[in-house]
Amino acid sequence: MERIASVADWRARAQSARASGRRVGLVPTMGALHAGHESLMRAAAAAGDVVVTTIFVNPRQFNNAADLATYPRTPDADAARAADSGTDVLVEPSLDEMWPLGEATPTTVHLGPIGEVFEGADRPGHFDGVASVVAKLLIVTGPCRLYLGEKDYQQLVAMRQMVRDLAFDVEVVGCAIVREESGLALSSRNVRLSDAGRVVALGLSRALASAGEPASAGELRARMRAVMLEAGIDVAYAEVVDPVSLVPLDDADEGEGRALLAGLVEGVRLLDNGPVRVIRGNRATSH
Ligand code: PAJ
Repeated sequence: MERIASVADWRARAQSARASGRRVGLVPTMGALHAGHESLMRAAAAAGDVVVTTIFVNPRQFNNAADLATYPRTPDADAARAADSGTDVLVEPSLDEMWPLGEATPTTVHLGPIGEVFEGADRPGHFDGVASVVAKLLIVTGPCRLYLGEKDYQQLVAMRQMVRDLAFDVEVVGCAIVREESGLALSSRNVRLSDAGRVVALGLSRALASAGEPASAGELRARMRAVMLEAGIDVAYAEVVDPVSLVPLDDADEGEGRALLAGLVEGVRLLDNGPVRVIRGNRATSH
């Protein structure tokens, strides 16, 4: 595995991969790598791509200085994991390389409404910060496949929107959520939970399981919320949305939906999501 820090070398390396007839698979991360990140690298390697993994803790997507300052940084362990998981080129740009003007960088990708709902509602500017950095990663890398986890479903949908709207020569590949055997979705935030907190957190995957049988959007919402509350989770939202637009479904809707869940456990905000099947509700037929 090669390790690169400069934008110029990274651009040149991606160009040379394409010149030799290979496809580039880009796996953007903020480090503190775990099996969820590894699954993205493995997917890119399995597709035959030259796997370019980036590690950059992007200050423009943090709303809170303390959160940024305490974000885990484990460069040596990350490099070992990346190499073991099929990364060919590990890019670790400095803040100066990525954003020479730091947080005062004026140019921003604005996503519109998709960045202002759910995770964006309490974090103004977060998704625009994500979009701005991912746009830059894509511009430096050039034509590629972009591997993102379904774990951050809203981020995945927002990046599909950006790639479409700005005509990036990029194929977005969404990868399934990696979970512990218990059902808990892997997240770098899980280390902040006590043993008791991890038990409470299982309410998220149990809530998804409770939405396994098709029902109306309203019924699915009610079931999931009840399971989360019962587990002791402070519910932020338990929604059923259109999988592409993220617009909430109502009882007149039918077809594929996406359940989006978020809640606080011991002050840690946890997310989960999964596909659901929505059928028309009884009440929807009365008008
Ligand atoms: P980060 O939180 O490091 O996540 C990097 C990628 O790993 C994201 O695409 C995320 O969805 C995926 N991922 C995390 N946990 C996962 C799990 N349990 N299963 C599958 N995939 C998982 O997301 C970011 O970084 C940043 O916003 C970034 C896109 C790098 C832009 O700065």
